[in-house]
Amino acid sequence: MTGGKTSSLSLTILYDNIRWEEKALYESAKRKGVHINNIDCKNLIVNLNKDFQQYREKIILQRCVSYFKSIHSTAALEGLGAYMINPLYSAIVCGNKLFSHMMLQNAGIKTPKAFSAFSEESALKVLDEMGYPAIIKPTIGSWGRLIALLRDKYAAKAVIEDREHMFPLYHVYYFEEFVTRPPRDIRAIVVGNRVVSAIYRYSENNDWKTNMALGGRAEACPITSELEDICVKSANALGGEIVGVDLMESNERGLIVHEVNNTTEFKNTVRVTGIDVPGSMIDYALKKAKS
Ligand SMILES: Nc1ncnc2c1ncn2[C@@H]1O[C@H](COP(=O)(O)OP(=O)(O)O)[C@@H](O)[C@H]1O
Ligand SMILES: [Mg+2]
Repeated sequence: MTGGKTSSLSLTILYDNIRWEEKALYESAKRKGVHINNIDCKNLIVNLNKDFQQYREKIILQRCVSYFKSIHSTAALEGLGAYMINPLYSAIVCGNKLFSHMMLQNAGIKTPKAFSAFSEESALKVLDEMGYPAIIKPTIGSWGRLIALLRDKYAAKAVIEDREHMFPLYHVYYFEEFVTRPPRDIRAIVVGNRVVSAIYRYSENNDWKTNMALGGRAEACPITSELEDICVKSANALGGEIVGVDLMESNERGLIVHEVNNTTEFKNTVRVTGIDVPGSMIDYALKKAKS
């Protein structure tokens, strides 16, 4: 990156919460002499028919945590000509576990075996077919929320009955096999066509979910060529440019991808690897601005 050239460049960060990551992206851009236009999604008002001039060819880092705000604001701004990182297709697919499953599978990437059903009766039937233990996941969600391990049909009945009293989204049933693996998973950060950093995530308190949001512990993970290849293929399959790919080391099937995050968190990745992840993300966005 040439210092003189970048100082005239600007990037936009669209957010709904200011996390460590949004601050780190902002600070990194500032250090590179890049002007950052911060937009709080709460204050965003878009004339969907007219605001072309304001957004055409603008490079916008989409950082909204809310899936619904993220996909709708991405659709609006991309439709007005902005270059969204990540694009609308990727935002829609990455944010939905059933959609991601299909796209990963069709791209030949190993992902947990899964079943779907659309009523209480069918859900219980499909679980009998799959066998227990199984995992129920909301198709849209994060931080491990509402993901439950169903050990037998009594647990399944109780959880499914609860879901039937929730918002209709939760009546779309998505189940995964419980993958036997070491007590950890892998979060790899893909920027463009490479993995810039990866960590192992271990759960604390013997929980089987390894989300950092649930108090997990992180350690640096070596970036093997196999890991890089799978992660880049997964990002491409879902149209993501800057994503966090989550994988498990299945005892039976080797590395399998269970999720691709399109507004990925990377605080713990930076903390344990010391790699300048936000710097790579800003450099990538700048390259798009210049091309
Ligand atoms: N099929 C599975 N088998 C075993 N463990 C799983 C499986 N799917 C997810 N997990 C564990 O649960 C955590 C949360 O699941 P994930 O699909 O990433 O949902 P979220 O979007 O809420 O983070 C994962 O990080 C992993 O530790
Ligand atoms: Mg996850």
